[in-house]
Amino acid sequence: MQSILDFIEANHERYLAELKELLSIPSVSSQTERKAEMRRTAEWLQNHLQVVGLQNVQILETAGHPAVYADWLNASGTPTLLIYGHYDVQPEDPLDEWKTPPFEATIRDGNLYARGAADDKGQIFIHIKAIEAFLKNGGTLPTNIKIIFEGEEEIGSENLPALIEAHKDLLKCDLIVISDTDIFEKGVPSVTYSLRGLSYTEVEVIGPNSDLHSGSFGGSVHNPIQALAEMIASLHDKNGRVTVKGFYNDVRPVSKAERAAFKKLPWKDRTYAKKLGLKQLYGEKGYTTLERLWVRPTLECNGIWGGYTGEGAKTVLPARAFAKISMRLVPNQDSMKIGKLFEKHFKAIAPKTVQVKVKVLHGGEPAITPIDSPGVKTAVAALEKGFGKKPLYQGEGGSIPIVVDFKKLLKADSVLLGFGLPDENAHAPNEFINLDNFFGGIRTCAHFYKDLPEYWKKGKK
Ligand code: BES
Ligand code: MN
Ligand code: MN
Repeated sequence: MQSILDFIEANHERYLAELKELLSIPSVSSQTERKAEMRRTAEWLQNHLQVVGLQNVQILETAGHPAVYADWLNASGTPTLLIYGHYDVQPEDPLDEWKTPPFEATIRDGNLYARGAADDKGQIFIHIKAIEAFLKNGGTLPTNIKIIFEGEEEIGSENLPALIEAHKDLLKCDLIVISDTDIFEKGVPSVTYSLRGLSYTEVEVIGPNSDLHSGSFGGSVHNPIQALAEMIASLHDKNGRVTVKGFYNDVRPVSKAERAAFKKLPWKDRTYAKKLGLKQLYGEKGYTTLERLWVRPTLECNGIWGGYTGEGAKTVLPARAFAKISMRLVPNQDSMKIGKLFEKHFKAIAPKTVQVKVKVLHGGEPAITPIDSPGVKTAVAALEKGFGKKPLYQGEGGSIPIVVDFKKLLKADSVLLGFGLPDENAHAPNEFINLDNFFGGIRTCAHFYKDLPEYWKKGKK
C-alpha cells in the first residue's frame, strides 16, 4: 500500500493538470447548444479510462446524453464494486459573479475553482486517479471494479434506469460507491447515510386573456402575480410547517437515537447563520437545523416570474404568473404521491378569480444506507486512513435519485463517500473543490478498494 500512497503523493501536479482539462469542457446537460460538448466530455473520459489501464471501456448510448462504462474484473474472489458518478454540470450563470471563468479551472487559497470541480467531475476524477495508482504500480486492483459515469444527473437521470435495465448483466455488482456528496466540514470527514428525495413542480396562474393596462383595469381584476404570491405564502403556516394536505402522512418520525446522535455533532447555528449572511435562521418549529436539513421534508419556491421585468417602468397587469416549486422528501414519502397531493392542494387553494395549471416535472425517492453494512464500515475505515481522522455519520439534504433505482434494478446498496464541502458553491458561481479534500479523497478511495474485500467477507459470515 505504501507504494500506492507514494505514487499518489508524487503525482499531485499531474492530477491537477489533467483535471483542469476535464473541467475545461462545458458539459452542461440542460442546454441543447452544449450537446456536442457533452459527447466530447464522454469521449475525454473514455480515452482517459483507457490510458489509466481500465478494460472494456465503452460509451453507452442513451436517448439523451451518453454514459461511459469501464471495468477491471481480474481480482477473482473479490466483490465487484460499481463506481457511479456524473460528468454533467449545472449551467454557469450568472457569469458575472465568477471571480475566474467557470471553465478555466483556477487555484486560489488551496481550492480549485471551476464549474463541476466538486459536483461531480472533480469527484469522479478522484476515483479514476485512485484506480490509476494501483494499475500503474503492480498492474492489479485489490477488488473488481466497474465504472458508470452518466451525463444526465443534473436533469433528473431520465434515461439512466432504462440504460441499467438494458445492461443489467454488464452492471451487475455487489456494492455501489458514489462520490457526489460533502463531508461535514473542512477537516471533519464523514460518511453520508441518508439522502432526501425530491418532487419538482411548475405552476402557472392564469388571469385575464391578455396583458392589460394596469391603470385602465387595475383594481377590477385579481393580478395573477398577486394571486400566486398569496397562494405561495399560504403553503407554510406560522410554525414553518408545509400546509399541503396530507404532506406529512408518510413521514417517519425522527427517532430518539437519531436526535441524540445529531446533538453530538459539532454544529453551531450561529456560525452557520453568519456564514450565510443571515441574522436569523428559519424552519419548522420543534426541530433543530440538522433535523430540518436531513430528516424533515420541506417545500421551496425555486423561481417566480411574470409580468414586466425589463428596463424602466411599464404599467401592465400581466395575464399570467409562474413559479417552480419543489419539495424535499424523507422516508417514507413517495415522490409521485407527493406530486399528486401538491397538485390537488394547489388547485384547491386557487381563488375563483384565476385558473391554475400544475406540472410535475420530475421526482426522486429518499434513500438510507444502513450504517452497519460492510460498505459503510469500509468507508469509515478508509476515511480514517485517508484523512487521519475518525469520520462522523451525517445525513444529507440533497438528492441522488438513482440510489433507489440501483437498489431496485441491481439489488445493491450505495455507499455515499463524498469529498465536497457544504460551502463549495455547487450549482452556484465560484464552485470549488478543496485540494486537501481532493488528495485526501484519492487516498481514501485507494484504501476503500484495498479494504473492501476483507470487510465484505466479514459481513457475509
Ligand atoms: N451532487 C448533488 C446531490 C447533493 C446535493 C449532494 C447537495 C450533496 C449536497 C446532485 O448533483 C444534485 O444536484 N442533485 C439534485 C437532484 C437532481 C434530481 C436534479 C438536487 O439535489 O437538487
Ligand atoms: Mn452531483
Ligand atoms: Mn448537482
